[in-house]
Amino acid sequence: MIKLNASVTDKTNFFNGSDPFDLAARYGSPLYVYNERILRRNCRDLAGMCGYPHFKVNFSAKANSNLAILQIVREEGLFVDAISAGEIFAELAAGFTSDEIFFVPNNISEDEMRFAIERGILLSVDSVSQLERYASLNPGGRVAIRFNPGVGAGHHEKVITAGENIKFGVNPEDIPNVKNIIRRYNLSLTGINQHIGSLFLEKTQYLKSMDALFDIAREFEDLDFIDMGGGFGIPYHKTEGQGRLDLKDMGDSLAERMTRFAGEYGKELTLMVEPGRYVSAEAGLLLGTVHAVKFNGPVKYVGTDIGFNVLARPVMYDAHHDVEIYRRDDLTSGKRECVNIAGNICESGDILAKNRLLPEILEDDLLGVLDAGAYGHSMSSNYNNRLRPAEILLREDNSVRLIRGRDTMEDLLRPYVKL
Ligand SMILES: Cc1ncc(COP(=O)(O)O)c(C=O)c1O
Repeated sequence: MIKLNASVTDKTNFFNGSDPFDLAARYGSPLYVYNERILRRNCRDLAGMCGYPHFKVNFSAKANSNLAILQIVREEGLFVDAISAGEIFAELAAGFTSDEIFFVPNNISEDEMRFAIERGILLSVDSVSQLERYASLNPGGRVAIRFNPGVGAGHHEKVITAGENIKFGVNPEDIPNVKNIIRRYNLSLTGINQHIGSLFLEKTQYLKSMDALFDIAREFEDLDFIDMGGGFGIPYHKTEGQGRLDLKDMGDSLAERMTRFAGEYGKELTLMVEPGRYVSAEAGLLLGTVHAVKFNGPVKYVGTDIGFNVLARPVMYDAHHDVEIYRRDDLTSGKRECVNIAGNICESGDILAKNRLLPEILEDDLLGVLDAGAYGHSMSSNYNNRLRPAEILLREDNSVRLIRGRDTMEDLLRPYVKL
């Protein structure tokens, strides 16, 4: 096998000596491949990023809710957040206890609230109306509130989650209403949280939002924690040499501000963060197969089995993923070409990469789509009745473990009831 454009997986020894063609033959293509060593390293980097003594990292499981991934994250000492009862269900199955799960949902039903209350899981509400609904179900209970600190950040308008015209969070102007409900229902407001957006590579907006959250915290006595949310970016443009977020520098700034605030507040509050992507993105790679190559006018299309049902980020957010090429035999022409890489979904928008300058790609090549371990499989679907891929884990001892089977045709029909 030869590899082209593969400096990233070569440098990280991503495949641990496994051959991508053997993996695809054994588990099917497309295929999500995770590297355990990289996943554990990311968890440790995050756990050690901040010297504040009461620092806690919650993995945002929406990025990747595979049970084995959750188990490893737990083994590394991280806690988790959840956005739905389904995520809570998976997290409990992976071994997290109720007090290790923070439920941070949006616009949920009473049933979903009860699901958390019955299991003793702390819930954060993100509107005044949800606070009142929760309070009526659990008077005298503990609660957290997600605020909109007025500062957003992120790589695309769809992932900026604070600031103006955003559906998330309680606006600070509503604090009098919040206090009123807390008093009437004798609730204990244990923490406040935010999530300003995803994929920032420098700290300015995050720290600005921290100051805004401190202003909100001053309004409430006896909080136990402040949760700054996630959003820590990773470099998706690695082959162009894009730099990394300086995690240690971010951690130092967080520690310094939090220590100062805790002194002023008169209590050693816990500081929480909620990274998703930073934990799992770089630990995952999506393998796919090139089934067709053609020109439509001047544009060369590389046709693959990596539709947006398998990886939605490029279509959903115009997201960039670096692409490596693996070939069975050395048929390298030395040519570089500008190509569109397309999937097999019946939509003209089903493009994984546009105008991408890459070594010439041939039929039957495998492509390795980098940094696919977050918002990859967790956002996949059965659109066009396609099967969601298997997920495998390259273990630290170099063994390979199937951690989610590929869908079967029977899976596609299971929920249906024929007339
Ligand atoms: C409330 C909340 N916390 C954390 C995250 C994780 O974001 P990221 O994966 O960018 O770190 C998200 C992502 O949408 C979120 O909505």
